[in-house]
Amino acid sequence: MQYAVLGTGVVGQTIATKLVTLGHEVRLGSRSADNPAAVEWAAAHSRGSATTFADAATFGEVVVNCLPGAVVLAVLEALAEEVGDKVLIDVSNPLDFSQGLPPTLSVCNTDSLAEQIQRALPSAKVVKALNTVNADIMVNPGLLSESTDLFLAGNDDQAKASVRSLLVEFGWRDEFIHDCGQVSTARGLEMYLLMWLNLMGATGSAHFNIHVVRADGDPPTG
Ligand SMILES: NC(=O)c1ccc[n+]([C@@H]2O[C@H](COP(=O)([O-])OP(=O)(O)OC[C@H]3O[C@@H](n4cnc5c(N)ncnc54)[C@H](OP(=O)(O)O)[C@@H]3O)[C@@H](O)[C@H]2O)c1
Repeated sequence: MQYAVLGTGVVGQTIATKLVTLGHEVRLGSRSADNPAAVEWAAAHSRGSATTFADAATFGEVVVNCLPGAVVLAVLEALAEEVGDKVLIDVSNPLDFSQGLPPTLSVCNTDSLAEQIQRALPSAKVVKALNTVNADIMVNPGLLSESTDLFLAGNDDQAKASVRSLLVEFGWRDEFIHDCGQVSTARGLEMYLLMWLNLMGATGSAHFNIHVVRADGDPPTG
């Protein structure tokens, strides 16, 4: 598959590297085609290249949003034509660092960043995924000593199924990936970040995740 990964930070590079390792073609998108971090990454990966946000979004059959919450909407609104009706995996979190630490959420309760993206790009098939774990865990869930859980939110069932398949390629167990429902359920996935930050403080590590345990005999989930 051809992927656009928008964002050259830790998350963008980590996901891009995993994708090329799995045999996919990746264009890593940045504000400029000569971003040093992206150029260096591309030089090290034969299936990867560095380019602008717009060129990457044109190339990708699937677009992965790995941008900081504060800039997501401005960048994606300008890419509505390039993204079109593609699957857009939204890994971002609406963390607002403008008032210092700890960060707050720039949107919550009655709305989410994923919904804002979906409204800005109504044809795109937005799927919220992976935002609840550290980048290292995203692509290597086996770093943890037990199998743990991931969550999906989005309006398009086919798009969620395709993202689920990709997550299984990443090493996640299919039965531990929970479809939370429509894109509005991304509110919970994003608001979990406050808890995630508390847990990072409590455990002293970013390398952890959660697992949902159900009572024996309860009906299977959909
Ligand atoms: N870190 C984690 O483990 C983790 C885990 C889960 C979710 N997330 C979420 O994943 C997302 C990416 O995190 P990250 O730490 O990898 O990102 P990051 O390093 O903060 O973001 C770097 C990217 O943001 C772009 N950027 C910065 N300012 C910009 C602006 N004013 N206009 C347009 N683009 C701008 C940069 O563009 P250039 O390439 O042009 O410099 C670069 O591509 C965030 O939403 C984060 O909350 C992170």
